Amino acid sequence: MDIRLSNRVMAVAPSATMAMTAKAAELKARGVNVIAFAAGQPDFDTPDNVKEQAIAALRAGDTKYPSPVSGTPKLREAIRGYFERFSGLNYAPSQICATVGAKDALHLGFAALLNPGDEVIIPAPYWVSYPDQVRLCDGKPVIVTPAKGLKITADELEAAITSRTRVVVLNSPSNPSGAVYSRAELEALAGVMRKTDGVVVFADEIYHRLLLTGEPYVSFAARDGMYERTLTINGVSKTYAMTGWRLGFAAGPEPLIKAMAKLQGQTTSGPTSFVQTASVEALTGDQKAVDEMLVAFKRRGKLMADGLNALPGVTCEQPGGAFYCFPDVSGTFAKLGVNDADGFSELALERAHVATVSGVAFGAPTHARLSFATSDADIVEGLRRIGEMLR
Ligand SMILES: Cc1ncc(COP(=O)(O)O)c(C=O)c1O
Repeated sequence: MDIRLSNRVMAVAPSATMAMTAKAAELKARGVNVIAFAAGQPDFDTPDNVKEQAIAALRAGDTKYPSPVSGTPKLREAIRGYFERFSGLNYAPSQICATVGAKDALHLGFAALLNPGDEVIIPAPYWVSYPDQVRLCDGKPVIVTPAKGLKITADELEAAITSRTRVVVLNSPSNPSGAVYSRAELEALAGVMRKTDGVVVFADEIYHRLLLTGEPYVSFAARDGMYERTLTINGVSKTYAMTGWRLGFAAGPEPLIKAMAKLQGQTTSGPTSFVQTASVEALTGDQKAVDEMLVAFKRRGKLMADGLNALPGVTCEQPGGAFYCFPDVSGTFAKLGVNDADGFSELALERAHVATVSGVAFGAPTHARLSFATSDADIVEGLRRIGEMLR
């Protein structure tokens, strides 16, 4: 029988970052020594105190359906305290929904707000899943590419807003660019939002603890008048090296949170029971592991950005947050005989055995993403190999 797939699923692209990781794994399995700069996750292990809590929860029989669907009272209380402590945001537990990763929080948010043809403004470069999630919810992604640099200006945001705009996505620190919006830049964007009616901001702040500049984090919802219209998205994946545990969360206006929980009740039933218990420990327990990870990311970010800037045809801004460098590699295209970053990433893998992710999937065909969630030695060796390929 012919399996006829829906238009919805046919309109969605497979995840480019996962595709590159799979390609690199295939080469590795054939015995090739591949330097992996493609992964979107910390190379550290989940802290022991969190693991121990999960084991204890399992032993205690914490294995039944989680209840309520939006997260256990203990977890939502922990998330409430976490927002207060690290984001300067005061949410009531009823304004919080725990989800199966931040990815699920974003999807539930789009599903709860979008009607067919509704527009979602997504600044480029963007995290790969935003446009596809919007399409999955019958919305229309509106990509805004900054005329200069890696961040959009208030004027660029204002020019993109129409009567069909329902959501604006802001991701700072950014995946893929590592760029961080300053307080002044966020104030200017908030100024534009204040002039609109019924437009919600999705502030994806999943990298907010991985700030490499030493400056305090500025949450978008804390800007004047933004609390009432912002869905703040976060999770344990990046901060606590817990990508496989699948726990994220969102906080915002109660009617939106309730709608997301209703959808969750008909889809996943919420995050895994004992993962919720262990995540309380991550969010409220010893934060030493986060501090140690940050020290390493600060050192490696500089090592990688400086190394990239020393390569012919490559320029890279110092990353402000997360664990990504996002160099402009367009100066190498003529030499390599390629048209865009897809060509660059393909050759880097085939010739230099270095896995990067092309910026094409992020809406930036002149750039490539290199993750420094890997050892210092690998950063030095990977850049040496790319350098050899370019010379
Ligand atoms: C910007 C951004 N948002 C959300 C996510 C999803 O994170 P999670 O693992 O919590 O689903 C990622 C993961 O790569 C990300 O980079």
